[in-house]
Amino acid sequence: MESRAKTTFLESRLMPAERAAALLPSRGTIAASGFTTAYPKVIPAAYAQRVEVERARGREFAINLYTGASTGEALDGVLARSGAVRKRLPFQSTPAMRDRINSGEIEFVDMHLSHVATYIAHGILDPIDAAIIEAVDVTPDGRIYLTTSSGLSPTFVDCAREVFVELNEAYPAALKGYHDIYLPEPPPHGRPIHITSVDDRIGVPYVQCDPAKIRAVVRTSALDAAPDFREPDDVSLAIAEHVVEFILHEVAKGRIPPGLLPFQSGIGNVANAVLSCLARSDRIESVRMYTEVLQDSIFDLVDAGKLECASTSALTFSAAGLDRFLGEIEELRRTFVIRPQEISNNPEVIRRMGIISMNTALEVDIYGHVNSTNVMGSRMMNGIGGSGDFTRNAYISIFLSPSVAKGGAISAFVPMVSHVDHVEHSTQIVVSEYGLADLRGLGPVRRARLLIEKCAHPDYRGALAEYLDRALETAPGKHMPHDLGHAFDWHTRYLQTGTMRA
Ligand code: COA
Repeated sequence: MESRAKTTFLESRLMPAERAAALLPSRGTIAASGFTTAYPKVIPAAYAQRVEVERARGREFAINLYTGASTGEALDGVLARSGAVRKRLPFQSTPAMRDRINSGEIEFVDMHLSHVATYIAHGILDPIDAAIIEAVDVTPDGRIYLTTSSGLSPTFVDCAREVFVELNEAYPAALKGYHDIYLPEPPPHGRPIHITSVDDRIGVPYVQCDPAKIRAVVRTSALDAAPDFREPDDVSLAIAEHVVEFILHEVAKGRIPPGLLPFQSGIGNVANAVLSCLARSDRIESVRMYTEVLQDSIFDLVDAGKLECASTSALTFSAAGLDRFLGEIEELRRTFVIRPQEISNNPEVIRRMGIISMNTALEVDIYGHVNSTNVMGSRMMNGIGGSGDFTRNAYISIFLSPSVAKGGAISAFVPMVSHVDHVEHSTQIVVSEYGLADLRGLGPVRRARLLIEKCAHPDYRGALAEYLDRALETAPGKHMPHDLGHAFDWHTRYLQTGTMRA
């Protein structure tokens, strides 16, 4: 039963999506909730329809679109196709948005996820005219209870001129209490973020908004498009087994405590396979996660009775995973905590807790530079996301990659990466299905020999070793030798012939 105050509040703001969409700007900046999930769906669809009608009459639309991270077809897809988006940040993964970025139609600012809030709060980015936030509840005094992700929603609400709420009735009120909303204080005298353990809660379970800023509330029950997770294939399982062996080896050496350190795990099937393998290993008793996305594999750890606590910025479940989560929503509240991305990805907290980061690379070069974003040096895939936040600040940073892509036509291990996201100084461990290279404490040439021996596909090992030998012979410096005239031969060959093979 809604109280009288709530009913009055809602009555004064409730409207259909079309009316809310008509109130959004045609120029300026729209920020939307969403970090893999929990993005608004019905207002963007209505806005895209408005754009179509009004553009046909000659009106121009040019908006910047900010979100926490990737969203789905219902936001990025429809808005990219509408032609209204001029600038997008900080991450995306839908084909329609990706294609327009790569055609040059939309300017994309690929950012570390932990940096975005600072850029907004300090006026480095254009100010936010309207924030559209998916919520499970909103109260007359302006408390907004978020759904399955937090991302940048607290910062958007704080900084936006106007706030539009999509009240999603598909989610139960029991989601309240999952979030721990706390925003870092500004420099130069901001206090330390007082998280010393994965399950510490330092904030409140809602986002506080000035109620006067809430312009519209739109009811919906539309769900996010659920990702499909494949069963781990042999390559992912082999990578995962190398990681688990390595973790146990580090424990045996005393470099990781017996209770382990918190894990961050990136998106995708390889990352899922690693968590499943941790769950299955009878030598691992308990696991803590300090990460930005939880996927279905978290339930393997729950089922194995090994999950102590999982801190995240988003729950990203398949349809079956979401059903399970909703079925166990009361019990899981003790184990999961959802944080703003300024906190889930915060360098200070990541460094303090000694995170073991695990992210996927598109390609890695012989010295350990990693490309996670730009295929063949120029075509944007998704963005750097949180991989840099975690990698640079982790106690142990791990990069995972199958040794080849496109049926073997592409080697993931190349003489020189065609784009750099993570530099050799940040890359510590690299793993493919063939093995694991521990690059810590090694100079460049020894790193290169180890990477080639342990990680490269046998079909490409010889050619990589030849490249290194030739570079050692011909380069003016022997510290990190390159044969600059031929460093990109493999990429060029692929673009010209469809394979990197000589
Ligand atoms: N060159 C060209 N294409 C390559 C490639 C390479 N070196 N390596 C992989 N690919 C292609 C694959 O063939 C596949 O193409 P397809 O979609 O046409 O089949 C695609 O890239 C995705 O590869 P896949 O093996 O399915 O990997 P994934 O789903 O695990 O994604 C990344 C890998 C790197 C794209 C993804 O992890 C990412 O976006 N990372 C950056 C952000 C990040 O790390 N966030 C972590 C914090 S959550």
